[in-house]
Amino acid sequence: MDGILNDLRELAPQLQKLTFSDRADPAYDYQKVCVRPFLKKGEVCYQLEQFKGAQVFHKNLDLPSLLSWVETTGAVRYRQLLLSAAGTEIQYTEKNGKMRRRVRETDRPAAAPQSHDRQKQYLLREGAYIPALIDLGVFTKDCKIIKSKYDKYKQINRFVELIDDVFQKSDKKELTILDFGCGKSYLTFILYYYFTVLRGVKATVLGFDLKADVVAHCNEIARRYGYDGLQFYVNDVTTDRLFEGKIDMVVTLHACDTATDYALLHAIRHKVPHVFSVPCCQHEINAQIRPGGEFDLLLRHGLLQERFSALLTDAVRAEILRRCGYETDVIEFVDFEHSPKNLMLRCALKAPKTPDLSDIRALLRQYGATQTLAEEVAKL
Ligand SMILES: C[S@@+](CC[C@H](N)C(=O)[O-])C[C@H]1O[C@@H](n2cnc3c(N)ncnc32)[C@H](O)[C@@H]1O
Repeated sequence: MDGILNDLRELAPQLQKLTFSDRADPAYDYQKVCVRPFLKKGEVCYQLEQFKGAQVFHKNLDLPSLLSWVETTGAVRYRQLLLSAAGTEIQYTEKNGKMRRRVRETDRPAAAPQSHDRQKQYLLREGAYIPALIDLGVFTKDCKIIKSKYDKYKQINRFVELIDDVFQKSDKKELTILDFGCGKSYLTFILYYYFTVLRGVKATVLGFDLKADVVAHCNEIARRYGYDGLQFYVNDVTTDRLFEGKIDMVVTLHACDTATDYALLHAIRHKVPHVFSVPCCQHEINAQIRPGGEFDLLLRHGLLQERFSALLTDAVRAEILRRCGYETDVIEFVDFEHSPKNLMLRCALKAPKTPDLSDIRALLRQYGATQTLAEEVAKL
């Protein structure tokens, strides 16, 4: 116990996260507790996220109160504790009444605590009445996050925050947004809510997906709330003709494989000013790639090949967008724990260009691969 408290005191300035898990008594209310530092009026505080069934309860503490909570509750109620700080991870595991301490060096960089003011401004903060989130099964009826949907909540919340960073100063009164591979459409609904309810913009948000039943369900919810500008269509985005009018933004969140490429192609072809795209399952290159040059050692193991192919796919996409005149950022949009597919292409069109992609296509050919966006943009 003293060891934990000493570590915590010593590492408090670099602390990034504490996780308590494996309840000593399964009847104890909270299965897991995560603690993260944040800034409140310039002071470092600690937020406890306590997971109970499908709900999450929050509590904010200063350092002395946190130490006392760890002493009386955290270290008593849980058999596992993971302390993550810049450069270090310490794991405590209790077995047969003995506490084992294991230290691991990491390359986790130092990160300043986020301001709580920013957390308070969470666009989709827990407790806010956002009826579509209740219907979609992200919030309970009393507006608490359903635990199994916590990662999705984090993703859509962050996605909208990143859009808000771009649009909060915009005086646009009307917007058209296309969501490719919208699936259950958590993001699509939230975009509509953000623009129409929170910002008073006349938004048309169109979601496309292959699944007829899901599309019908989403249309039914949209009609229930009188969301007239929110419509869902059964379409194969890789082959079907989609909306041809003026578009202000294209979004994708985990649209499978080449569905992402067709979304980006649509944006390039229609000179869409803003693209926010989080790719997923980049199978195309992985299915074709074979040894061909200096990168062959990355292809000797299936896992490395898969990761290399995914990186190559997204690097090619980002480069094509850049050459088409988009200012393109590749950012990590949520922590890995909320989705391993956490890379976002954030693009703003500056000056549209028709690019030469011969070098990119030659590089891919050298490794036996073609890539949809490269092939399609080359035809424009
Ligand atoms: C992993 S889900 C993501 C759904 C949603 N965007 C989200 O983040 O919750 C991927 C979705 O893409 C859809 N999809 C895959 N290929 C598609 C295609 N060619 N045309 C339209 N939708 C497609 C699937 O039906 C599925 O609903």
